[in-house]
Amino acid sequence: MSQWPDTRILDLLGIELPIIQAPMAGATGSAMVIAASNAGGLGSMPAAMLSIEQLREELKTIRQQSQRPFNINYFCHQTPAADEQRAREWKNLLEPYYRELGVDFEAPTPVSNRAPFDNAACEVLEEFRPEVVSFHFGLPEQSLLDRVKATGAKILSSATTVEEAVWLEQHGCDAIIAMGYEAGGHRGMFLSDDLSSQVGTFALVPQVVDAVKVPVIAAGGISDARGVAAAFLLGASAVQVGTAYLFTPEAKVSASHHKALRTAKESETAVTNLFTGRPARGILNRVMRELGPMSDKAPAFPLAGGALMPLRAKGEADFSNLWAGQAFTLGVEVSTAELTRRLAEEGLAKLLRR
Ligand SMILES: Cc1cc2nc3c(=O)[nH]c(=O)nc-3n(C[C@H](O)[C@H](O)[C@H](O)COP(=O)(O)O)c2cc1C
Repeated sequence: MSQWPDTRILDLLGIELPIIQAPMAGATGSAMVIAASNAGGLGSMPAAMLSIEQLREELKTIRQQSQRPFNINYFCHQTPAADEQRAREWKNLLEPYYRELGVDFEAPTPVSNRAPFDNAACEVLEEFRPEVVSFHFGLPEQSLLDRVKATGAKILSSATTVEEAVWLEQHGCDAIIAMGYEAGGHRGMFLSDDLSSQVGTFALVPQVVDAVKVPVIAAGGISDARGVAAAFLLGASAVQVGTAYLFTPEAKVSASHHKALRTAKESETAVTNLFTGRPARGILNRVMRELGPMSDKAPAFPLAGGALMPLRAKGEADFSNLWAGQAFTLGVEVSTAELTRRLAEEGLAKLLRR
């Protein structure tokens, strides 16, 4: 029998440990998902940066190497209409960098690749029938959501405010991920684009717990057992941990991201829209410092990334997103399985010693 003071997420998702390895598009592949799920937590496979074929291959591998529940995660933004003028103004802002690095400014701008949840993605999900499906940026349109529910999957989505949490509960989420401002990667915000609405984990979690009946998963700035225990004391039924998993050998991070995670100071993250058009937290680098982390010139998500791609190829760390949450300096170099077990065992020990 579980000793956890709140077992609602364990019961709902059919997992042993209330530790959700966060989906991290670009950094999480099947190896991390398999290791987290086989350790008793919930592995989460991000779909946003994969083609349908790539996703199918990853899901096949997961099903071959794990019998445990796992999660597939999708972005559910609307693809924006092309806006030539905005694209041109954005590229003009970056022109000095093209000149400095000797990159052809007139060459066509590449298209950045964050795919929204759509019919094709839903078909893959219907084929593999993951036990859990999580969304970022709200929920997909009702007909698609109905199809996901018909597979029997439990549905999660991120809320960055109490208002978003209530909205997600009303629209059928089985549990809410309360994503505090500390979190690495894209803010899941979808009812407002006002960054002043964004709340830290310590304030967000208990207020969301009070506002909804479904179980709440705390995310943002939780990188060790202290954070796990604190989240439970605030009323969470599980935690979703991202940045700490970037230190595991299963994480797929570039050399510059790897270096930044190990050398930056704890105060050196910021929320920026430069890399995709949506606010996301990452380690400060040259382009964020020089243009300011937020720019009203950045094209709508996910189009902003295209004009940076050729620069990345030349000056990787200066122009790449180095996603990380504010607690990144707590990261330790252990395997995904070990991290999952440690977060749970040491977190539970702290709670029981209370
Ligand atoms: C590198 C990176 C990529 C991320 N990509 C996604 C994603 O594809 N989908 C998603 O729902 N959340 C994404 N997130 C957010 C995480 O799922 C999670 O909510 C967050 O990492 C929790 O905060 P922490 O980083 O402080 O642990 C990402 C976070 C990071 C650090």
